[in-house]
Amino acid sequence: MYRMERDFSGLLAALKVTGEQVDVALGALLPKPAGLQARVQEAMRYAIFAGGKRLRPFLLLQSATLFGVPPEQALRAAAAIECVHTYSLVHDDLPCMDDDDLRRGRPTTHRAFDEATAVLAGDALLTVAFEILADAKTHPSGEVRARLVAELARAGGMLGMIGGQMIDIEASTQGFGVDEVILLQRLKTGALFEFCCVAGPILAEAGTQHENRLREYAGDFGLVFQITDDLLDVLSTAEKTGKAVGKDAQQGKATLVSLLGVDAARAKAENLAHAASDRIASYGGASSHLQALPPYLLHRES
Ligand code: IPE
Ligand code: IPE
Ligand code: MG
Ligand code: MG
Ligand code: MG
Repeated sequence: MYRMERDFSGLLAALKVTGEQVDVALGALLPKPAGLQARVQEAMRYAIFAGGKRLRPFLLLQSATLFGVPPEQALRAAAAIECVHTYSLVHDDLPCMDDDDLRRGRPTTHRAFDEATAVLAGDALLTVAFEILADAKTHPSGEVRARLVAELARAGGMLGMIGGQMIDIEASTQGFGVDEVILLQRLKTGALFEFCCVAGPILAEAGTQHENRLREYAGDFGLVFQITDDLLDVLSTAEKTGKAVGKDAQQGKATLVSLLGVDAARAKAENLAHAASDRIASYGGASSHLQALPPYLLHRES
């Protein structure tokens, strides 16, 4: 059990506000169940309105705040990334992948509906994300919208999340070492976080220097996030995390926790968390939540 060492109340309050804003945006953007395809629309809503932490939308909105992006634009991009993230979870839980029955504290989508509906709901969440980004309401410049679309395609694709999920499957059988696991995590988890962090400077057309700084923050952040996810898998309970625990060991999966042990993995996460916060400290008070988030992850229980 981690000890709370600093006051995260401001961050937690901001996370709560973001959660509410994103839910309103998603409610308006996702199709209402109607017509002969209502079942897949119900499954999309079931998967997405299930109490996720909304960390990716939060990162995106905070990154947008740094550059003065209008909130209505940032919220659309935040909704898009939450759709892609939720799709990745729906498919990750399928019997052919991690075969999980519990997600966000309730039955996984294929359990609540059926496998075919879960596959389709995931596919529909992925595609609607691009529909949201491509709409002129996301940004008046077609060039900016095309950049967002290309960035999300890369982050979600074979050089990003999908590539990471493929390597993750191999991690049960290939005898990976630390370098391979870090690459796996950068792709599997880090790539979507990178999209969130770089979306702010892209929407603001702030230039590559800012984009690169936010990408570096995201790189460290993603590793901290996945190491803490792997720690929770070993140390926490299904009650707290809302998903099954002990899965990585059960599947014989190489993670930094299995390779280095709990203490060394936590120490690595701590170093990376401080590095991440330092990378954006130069943005001053506007980056205070982004600075607090990596250390907060070290204390999270879900
Ligand atoms: C879980 O992500 C999947 C991983 C990338 C490890 P989160 O822990 O952010 O899940 P939700 O969105 O809060 O359910
Ligand atoms: C999945 O990683 C990350 C995704 C890209 C969906 P995990 O398999 O560790 O995620 P959890 O623990 O099921 O949330
Ligand atoms: Mg998995
Ligand atoms: Mg899983
Ligand atoms: Mg996990």
